Amino acid sequence: MEIPFRLNGEDVTATTDDPTATLLDWLRGRHGLTGTKEGCNEGDCGACSVIVTGADGAPRALNACILFLPQLAGRAVRTVEGLAEPDGTLHPVQQAMVDLHGSQCGFCTPGFVTTMAAAHARGDTDDADQIAGNLCRCTGYAPILRAARAARDAPVPDLMHEPALPASPVRGSDHFHPQSGDELAEWYAAHPDATLVAGATDVGLWVTKQFRPLGRLAFLAGCDDLRGVTVAEDAIEIGAMCDMETLRHAIAPHFPAFAELLRRYGSVQVRNAATIGGNIANGSPIGDSPPPLIALGATLHLRRADDRRSMPLEDFFLDYGKQDRAPGEFVERVTIPRQPDTLRCHKLSKRFDQDISAVCGAFNLPLVDGRFATPRVAFGGMAGTPKRAPSAEVALAGQAPSADTFRRAAEALAQDFEPLTDMRASADYRMRAAQGMLLRLAYDGDDTVAHDLIGVRA
Ligand SMILES: Cc1cc2nc3c(=O)[nH]c(=O)nc-3n(C[C@H](O)[C@H](O)[C@H](O)COP(=O)(O)OP(=O)(O)OC[C@H]3O[C@@H](n4cnc5c(N)ncnc54)[C@H](O)[C@@H]3O)c2cc1C
Ligand code: FES
Ligand code: FES
Repeated sequence: MEIPFRLNGEDVTATTDDPTATLLDWLRGRHGLTGTKEGCNEGDCGACSVIVTGADGAPRALNACILFLPQLAGRAVRTVEGLAEPDGTLHPVQQAMVDLHGSQCGFCTPGFVTTMAAAHARGDTDDADQIAGNLCRCTGYAPILRAARAARDAPVPDLMHEPALPASPVRGSDHFHPQSGDELAEWYAAHPDATLVAGATDVGLWVTKQFRPLGRLAFLAGCDDLRGVTVAEDAIEIGAMCDMETLRHAIAPHFPAFAELLRRYGSVQVRNAATIGGNIANGSPIGDSPPPLIALGATLHLRRADDRRSMPLEDFFLDYGKQDRAPGEFVERVTIPRQPDTLRCHKLSKRFDQDISAVCGAFNLPLVDGRFATPRVAFGGMAGTPKRAPSAEVALAGQAPSADTFRRAAEALAQDFEPLTDMRASADYRMRAAQGMLLRLAYDGDDTVAHDLIGVRA
């Protein structure tokens, strides 16, 4: 198959028989561009970060180790080798890294400068968040953060503005590369055995870590009509191919706690790839988007050929590894009803950044006349699926917010879940952490109530 894209300003065609060949392997092995490094090969370290610009013209950092070549058709890629001007003038973040001693052994440095250059071009100034997915073992982060700050006001070099590419479909492929939801719907209904590849932040690891043969594939990267977020009067509609970083920014004005939770979803490289459709469809009990979506009363919209059906998102998760999705049916979009914001979220993981939840709680607690009217509480990591907490909701309903109310809700939670013990957390720890999240809602920063609750074993 032939995949046309732009690489460091030049049009190239990658030729491969393997639809799951990664950009990282191709750059290093086939193209001799060894500046992009391989560290973990699973999206965790950022050594392989490159800059990818799509149809919207916005440069994004992505992990090349879990980026399949067919996902790049019609996109522009810039590696560390393509960041300096032809006369050798360094990109401002490269120069700042030199001036401020941001590199020692240098292994991580190409990944840092590509990530930082993408953030610089986009005007993202949350430096610590932007580099949270880049691991440095020797320099330490202070000089790197100083370099990001020093480069902030420098003009964005022209080479970062990639001119739009002409429509460039993949040629000579046995696999499917739909350019719209309609094309996908027709083909997938006829080929229900195929594996859909959205952002490949799960599927990529099936290849690089599990060496799984994947059979027939459909690459959804060209379905731009499934990417948008639309804010209408009655609902916020999120297309299945919307990536987590786009969603984070779009949802922030409406549900800031959801956006804050997404800030802790993987790293910027992972969020730039991972889609809401993939995060729901994979049915993971510890996916971060289902708990807040369920707490907000979101509706899931599925499509098979021309048939569409909708359901409350919580009904989609039937059991561990089992979802209510028929062969040939795919997630088309998810909608959140417009409502005043009363959402709170807590994600508990071993590290603050770039880690999957042990427990994730979402609490939507609207007050009517000073009492909780229709509380919705949802957890990830507490059962085989993301799930509501009906007993805790009953304990909250009709009550005024007080330490006692939350204590009773925390006690009731024990009837809602029998969590598992696994490598992330023990069952007991999970239950106590989830109860702690409920207790914590009582004070929301008020230390006097916090002290009242200390020592409480719900
Ligand atoms: C380093 C790293 C960190 C991560 N951190 C987090 C984290 O903090 N929180 C978290 O929740 N997850 C995390 N993940 C997991 C991963 O990002 C998510 O599960 C992700 O949302 C999957 O989306 P994707 O678009 O990448 O899906 P893909 O990998 O492309 O697909 C995942 C599954 O969904 C199916 N699928 C995709 N789109 C559709 C669709 N529209 N309809 C039907 N089926 C579909 C695919 O066929 C596949 O079975 C992390 C992953 C990595 C590698
Ligand atoms: S090699 Fe570690 S993120 Fe790609
Ligand atoms: S400079 Fe050595 S790992 Fe970062």
